[in-house]
Amino acid sequence: MKKLISKFLLALLVVPVMAFANEDVHLDKAQVNTRDYESLQRGAKTFVNYCLNCHSAGYMRYNRLQDLGLTEQQIKENFLFSPDAKIGDLMKVSMTSKDAKEWLGAAPPDLTVIARSRGADWLYTYLRGFYRDDSRPTGWNNTVFDKVGMPHVLYELQGEQQVEIKKNAEGHEEKEVKLVKAGTLTSLKDGKANTADYDQMVNDLVNYLVYMGEPAQNKRETIGYVVLLFLILVLVPLSYALKKEYWKDVH
Ligand code: HEC
Repeated sequence: MKKLISKFLLALLVVPVMAFANEDVHLDKAQVNTRDYESLQRGAKTFVNYCLNCHSAGYMRYNRLQDLGLTEQQIKENFLFSPDAKIGDLMKVSMTSKDAKEWLGAAPPDLTVIARSRGADWLYTYLRGFYRDDSRPTGWNNTVFDKVGMPHVLYELQGEQQVEIKKNAEGHEEKEVKLVKAGTLTSLKDGKANTADYDQMVNDLVNYLVYMGEPAQNKRETIGYVVLLFLILVLVPLSYALKKEYWKDVH
């Protein structure tokens, strides 16, 4: 029985390690800071301009952008494109998922909580990992999402990349799955933005996607600190006074 239990405990230890080992794609690190409102505002702008054509963010309202320090007027002027859109509207798209499937082969998923399912690093790598692939209907493929249905919508900024095919020691071309990795891309055609600016823009966008997944996070953390402060400032002296009171007669 003891053996069985120790085996079980060992398995519990090993399983998460195996889950990580499965992840053989290299992911670049995103700098996430959901209190950097300037970064979030830039990211929101990129999101509305470049992503909302296809993807919805059906759990996010435009007026929530006020939390990022934008005024109602600024949101109306810079974020609402359709004349009958209202500031209280959800970030929906007019394209139906059936149309999208016909045009793109896959329906673009809602992105409100995408950062929670994929993680910031994955998104950061994904949005920088598109490369030219003539075998794909869109002409694009991606290092972390093989055969993706999404075209590279930011290519005018980033430019175009291709996968480098390397030969290994025996002179064989390395397997495709190994080649399809961030870091093995070379620039085919320069974009309007240089690499540092493009990376910064994507980072802001990912920051916004993380924020959108949990807009109340900042508030929740602040409340946490207030509660801790309360415990320290009020409860600690109180319990100390109480302890003193109780022990007064003992000595
Ligand atoms: C032309 C329409 C279009 C635009 C514009 C677009 N996407 Fe997509 N996107 C798609 C489609 C279609 C898929 C589904 C791909 C698949 O499943 O093969 C997708 C998939 C994704 C995924 C992967 C979702 C998953 O399955 O985990 C992410 C993340 C994503 N898009 C982010 C973005 C961001 C960020 C932008 C803005 C910079 C953007 N997309 C702009 C069409 C679009």
